[in-house]
Amino acid sequence: MTKIKVGILGCTGMVGQAFMWLLAHHKQFDISFLGASSLRNDKYYVDEVNWIFPFPMPESVKNKKCEAINFAKIKDRGVRIIFSALPADQARKIEPELREHNFYVFSNAGALRYEEDVPILIPEVNLDDINLIEKQGFPGKGFVITNANCSTTGLTVALSPLKKFGIREVFVSTYQSVSGAGYPGISFLDISGNAIPYIKNEEHKMIIETKKILGLEADIYPTCVRIPTLWGHLETVWVTLEDRVEKEDITGAWSTCKSASPRLASMPDNPIIYREDEDFPQPKMSFFGTPPGMTVFIGQLKKINNRIGFTLLVNNIIKGAAGGSIQNAEAFVQAYGGELKT
Ligand SMILES: NC(=O)c1ccc[n+]([C@@H]2O[C@H](COP(=O)([O-])OP(=O)(O)OC[C@H]3O[C@@H](n4cnc5c(N)ncnc54)[C@H](OP(=O)(O)O)[C@@H]3O)[C@@H](O)[C@H]2O)c1
Repeated sequence: MTKIKVGILGCTGMVGQAFMWLLAHHKQFDISFLGASSLRNDKYYVDEVNWIFPFPMPESVKNKKCEAINFAKIKDRGVRIIFSALPADQARKIEPELREHNFYVFSNAGALRYEEDVPILIPEVNLDDINLIEKQGFPGKGFVITNANCSTTGLTVALSPLKKFGIREVFVSTYQSVSGAGYPGISFLDISGNAIPYIKNEEHKMIIETKKILGLEADIYPTCVRIPTLWGHLETVWVTLEDRVEKEDITGAWSTCKSASPRLASMPDNPIIYREDEDFPQPKMSFFGTPPGMTVFIGQLKKINNRIGFTLLVNNIIKGAAGGSIQNAEAFVQAYGGELKT
């Protein structure tokens, strides 16, 4: 099968590294453009990146060259699909221009998430929202599909199967790893042996994005805390439901969570895994599952009247960022594949 050429913008960053690792051996996509800031132009990836991703750098990417973002060059390379791991301020400027130049942008940045016609897509949650790209002008024009903020991704995957019980209100507290702040991120002196109960804009994002993705009217009360772990965001959640349910109703609903059909290449057979072990889940399990880092793990299920509580773990840079974007691109190719040949 001929692979589809893709570009990665922000390839040296925290999320960019996850893209490089995930796409180096991807069955459908071929890394054909490594977008970086202009100082890195024409320099080897291996020399420019400070590789902190917890698996070895793939050999096949070491001697690829970073390039400043140049639309004509990207087009000449035969690239239509762009994965963006740019900081929000850069994405706000560059992503609309990419769309104007007919690129198909899969973004991790928050810049365009709240535009009405831009889906915040999580395939096992709101796959039908992919149709919004037609409102952006596709197939005649390009589009932007975003994924959610990383903590919102875990929350919406867990809540989506519970919608049928009537979600009235959600209280969520997060315990977020330092990799969520990018590289170089937070200083060691600030976070070591400490917890910081403030992550800029995070609580606001969780409210707006959860409602947009799930189409919920419910009240959402987040508290977001940075803790000194490296990978994965833990979240404790209490949900008030309209219906009286038993724990088995909840675990049964989670077990029905499935990918698009046929299953997307990067989607686990079971996107949610619930376990009853008394100390499950923990951040050190962030890369567990097949494919690694793509599963949302849930444990600690409790029930008091019509309220249920649970603890979830989402890998912030895989399912919550690069991996989520790749699933979105796979979903796009599955739904509209023919358009890529034009
Ligand atoms: N970290 C997470 O867990 C996470 C999760 C979900 C979403 N996100 C979002 O994903 C995006 C990337 O996050 P991150 O954590 O990877 O940040 P990061 O580690 O700071 O990486 C940002 C990258 O963007 C590059 N860059 C900056 N300006 C550029 C420009 N004008 N042209 C080309 N490249 C440019 C940087 O390259 P230089 O080093 O050369 O400047 C760097 O490689 C952000 O929007 C973030 O909010 C992050």
